[in-house]
Amino acid sequence: MATNTYVGAVDQGTTGTRFMVFDHGGQVVANAYEKHEQIYPEPGWVEHDPREIWENTKDVITQALDQADIEADQLAAIGVTNQRETTLLWDADTGRPVHNAIVWQDRRTTDRIEQLQDEGKADDVQAKTGLEPDAYFSATKAEWLLDNADPIKTERARPADVRERAEEGEILFGTIDTWVIYNLTGNHITDVTNASRTMLFDIHDMEWDDELLEEFDVPREMLPEVRPSSDEDLYGHTDDDGFLGAEVPVAGALGDQQAALFGQTCFDAGDAKNTYGTGSFFLMNTGNEAVESEHGLLTTVGFQRSGEPVQYALEGAIFITGAAIEWLEDMDLIEDAAETAELARSVDSTDGVYFVPAFTGLGAPHWDQRARGTILGMTRGTRKEHVVRATLESIAYQTRDVAEAMEADSGIDMQSLRVDGGAVKNNFLCQLQSDIIDTDIARPQVDETTALGSAYAAGLAVGYWETADELRDNWQVDREFEPEAAGEYEDKYDRWSEAVERSLDWARD
Ligand code: G3P
Repeated sequence: MATNTYVGAVDQGTTGTRFMVFDHGGQVVANAYEKHEQIYPEPGWVEHDPREIWENTKDVITQALDQADIEADQLAAIGVTNQRETTLLWDADTGRPVHNAIVWQDRRTTDRIEQLQDEGKADDVQAKTGLEPDAYFSATKAEWLLDNADPIKTERARPADVRERAEEGEILFGTIDTWVIYNLTGNHITDVTNASRTMLFDIHDMEWDDELLEEFDVPREMLPEVRPSSDEDLYGHTDDDGFLGAEVPVAGALGDQQAALFGQTCFDAGDAKNTYGTGSFFLMNTGNEAVESEHGLLTTVGFQRSGEPVQYALEGAIFITGAAIEWLEDMDLIEDAAETAELARSVDSTDGVYFVPAFTGLGAPHWDQRARGTILGMTRGTRKEHVVRATLESIAYQTRDVAEAMEADSGIDMQSLRVDGGAVKNNFLCQLQSDIIDTDIARPQVDETTALGSAYAAGLAVGYWETADELRDNWQVDREFEPEAAGEYEDKYDRWSEAVERSLDWARD
């Protein structure tokens, strides 16, 4: 392999878009990032403008290549990773979105999910998809868009109804991977991991499911082709005449949490990672077996390499962790996330304060769409340091809720957890996490494991890397944290559980 070739990764996340370039050793060569607007049309609704996302994607690719003085044709492949579940529809002729994308955090279809539950259909949906029915997933978002997106002005005598055009294959459905791949290559494709988050896909038969399509009134004609996460047949190429000016193979895609699992080289059953981003997503590889959860976890597709069987994962999806720190910033309690460690350390405890940041309901393992953010135990003496510490503790307690469910479902007593994501730069949080779950925490040197995972998937597909062992060798530990004060948190964890109880069902009508 020539030394001057690289693999690129588009990481299209909830708050922004990143492009990273990696070398053969899995080291970062270039990294550019741009934020995009968060649109809140109504309380509980969250949208993104897909055109802004695509413009930012092109910008960050161009910036990163310029930064490292790399020509596009030095990229052996590009991988894509993305915020999952976020849903959009676009016009197949013009490529124009028919509406903003509805973001995974959006709660507008809560009633529809409750209807499904009242009709006794939730268990069937879960049996096929591995998902706890929730407004989080794409199915009800697609249904909402088909019912509510404005009719499209066409040459026809009357504006054409969106669903009618979708039935003709004139309107396309996609999650964000599909949108990025479509704009990069012109092909309408998703990967197995992203498909597994739509609630329209049977994760056992590995195909779009007719009954689910009928339930949510989603025409099959609008769905993308489902491919392996690392695909030797390639998803397509960038266009010679396009913004890159080169034909680069696009060969891998994974939802961001599965990408982090791959980037952490959790290739074997029992390997687990937790990513601390907007929310936290704790995934454990369960091998070729789709383990059904009895403790509120999701069963999901972990990844699939060309010609190999699917590897499944159990997932604890926690909706709000890093976003709780952002909220502290929005409230002017802190100026920067980096301050939180020092502020939290400056007090011995939260002084009895518990913060359940259930801003968008609670995900795993509680699954309560109507839970809302709750701060308990404040006194006249409560200072911002206590609230900041309670925020960091809430991240670690929520992870413990999931870790307990994970051990109960898998029967595996976890000895070590690999961590990544923005918040793990915070040593205080890592130590706290180790104490609260009484498990070793391993932080890798390359903490951008999400982008790395999709680069690995794309690079394996084109032979830039040959074997999984090469990738395992690239994984190097930065720092390990061992439990130092686990006992201290046992009673506090019970109080945390009580606080969670009080946050439940708050937003009922
Ligand atoms: O399921 C949602 C998840 O994929 C979002 O991840 O890192 O963009 O907050 P992130």
